[in-house]
Amino acid sequence: MVTVTEARSNARDNRTAAHSHIKGLGLRDDGYAAETANGFVGQAAAREACGVIVDLIRAKKMSGRAVLLAGGPGTGKTALALAISQELGTKVPFCPIVGSEVYSTEVKKTEALMENFRRAIGLRVRETKEVYEGEVTELTPEEAENPLGGYGRTISHLLIGLKSAKGNKKLRLDPSIFEAMQKERVQVGDVVYIEANTGACKRVGRSDAYATEFDLEAEEYVPLPKGEVHKRKEIVQDVTLHDLDVANARPQGGQDIMSMMGQLMKPKKTEITDKLRQEINKVVNRYIDQGVAELVPGVLFIDEVHMLDVECFTYLNRALESSISPIVILASNRGQCTIRGTEDIVSAHGIPPDLLGRLLIIPTVPYKPDEIRTIISLRAKTESLTLEDEALHSLARRGENTSLRYALQLLTPASILAKVAGRQEIKAIDVEECEELFIDARRSAGIVSNGTNFMS
Ligand SMILES: Nc1ncnc2c1ncn2[C@@H]1O[C@H](COP(=O)(O)OP(=O)(O)O)[C@@H](O)[C@H]1O
Ligand SMILES: [Mg+2]
Repeated sequence: MVTVTEARSNARDNRTAAHSHIKGLGLRDDGYAAETANGFVGQAAAREACGVIVDLIRAKKMSGRAVLLAGGPGTGKTALALAISQELGTKVPFCPIVGSEVYSTEVKKTEALMENFRRAIGLRVRETKEVYEGEVTELTPEEAENPLGGYGRTISHLLIGLKSAKGNKKLRLDPSIFEAMQKERVQVGDVVYIEANTGACKRVGRSDAYATEFDLEAEEYVPLPKGEVHKRKEIVQDVTLHDLDVANARPQGGQDIMSMMGQLMKPKKTEITDKLRQEINKVVNRYIDQGVAELVPGVLFIDEVHMLDVECFTYLNRALESSISPIVILASNRGQCTIRGTEDIVSAHGIPPDLLGRLLIIPTVPYKPDEIRTIISLRAKTESLTLEDEALHSLARRGENTSLRYALQLLTPASILAKVAGRQEIKAIDVEECEELFIDARRSAGIVSNGTNFMS
């Protein structure tokens, strides 16, 4: 039996935080890009090409192939890859890595690649569970003499009353569930959800019967659950194959203090063996055959693909052929360069010809000044920052002269400077001050190569 409930998605969300304004490719029904839509501005041809890729994926015509986004830094390559995964549906895994990430002393390169392949393959598991769900009308712990003697008293049962749209039910629950409820801080008037088999319990929210008109609390109000209190409910869980690997590799730690300390002190890499993966694949395949689960291939995005070496490319070639493979999107801002791991074989983007032959290549182009402007103001809106017109102008100019990313990166520090000065709005002087504090790469390199002594 594969542990599913233990699995928790550890997708590295923070990597995509800079793209939180991107909600999709922003294509119209006819497949053409709207000027500004879904948070995307300009880069029309590349967006349309990505739309075709999405169609190919849906038609299952991408197997054995991959996509390469080629273009300068800050031209939206990562954003496009993320948008493709969003177009494929909600809960489609998106796993962004950088080519150089596969080199570590702990794990083999191909092993690291394999791990990321599995992070990019989702599994949707449907389970029918017996549950109790309702608004808590009563919550009474029943005490008893401690059976072990002594003076203490213990909780022998928990009496709980639950109300749903169709009925009421009183349950007598095990004391362990009482503890779980205390942890979730369940009170009368909350809507809870208890799994009958495992006793797992979850506070869903506050019943909206208790909502007042003027409420300042950060409380989530939920409606009274429909149907009976006791019912069978279909639970859908989305996990990645990597989540399953991790959940099943970790020795299920005990509750005793030593193993808890151990977990705190050593967040060590868990050993995931090939054998374990094969076992998991077997169970996953069985779930799929039984119709309990469904594979959701996601997007594996490998940035700076020229950092991979021949061995990794060989692995990639093979992995693309596999029947369970995610959509692989590569990105590069290099032109001709030597393939890593070879003496002197020069190839486009540092990718060997046999892999190049499998790629659909999409170029991205630098942005026009007004596009940069729109992107910056979009980003400011997403971060709830207000920009004075002149500040926007000044940032946009920096975007043109250096890079879009540099301009976007100045946004947050500039907002901090504005706040320090007691203003809500970012002014041009904040941007200028930031520019003095944080220089862009070209200026930085210039200073160092001119031999300016930082110490003097
Ligand atoms: N066309 C666009 N519309 C809106 N935002 C964009 C666009 N292109 C890039 N961005 C944003 O600009 C920043 C840099 O883009 P990114 O995708 O990281 O570039 P690259 O991967 O090509 O270096 C990101 O925050 C991204 O979301
Ligand atoms: Mg990028």
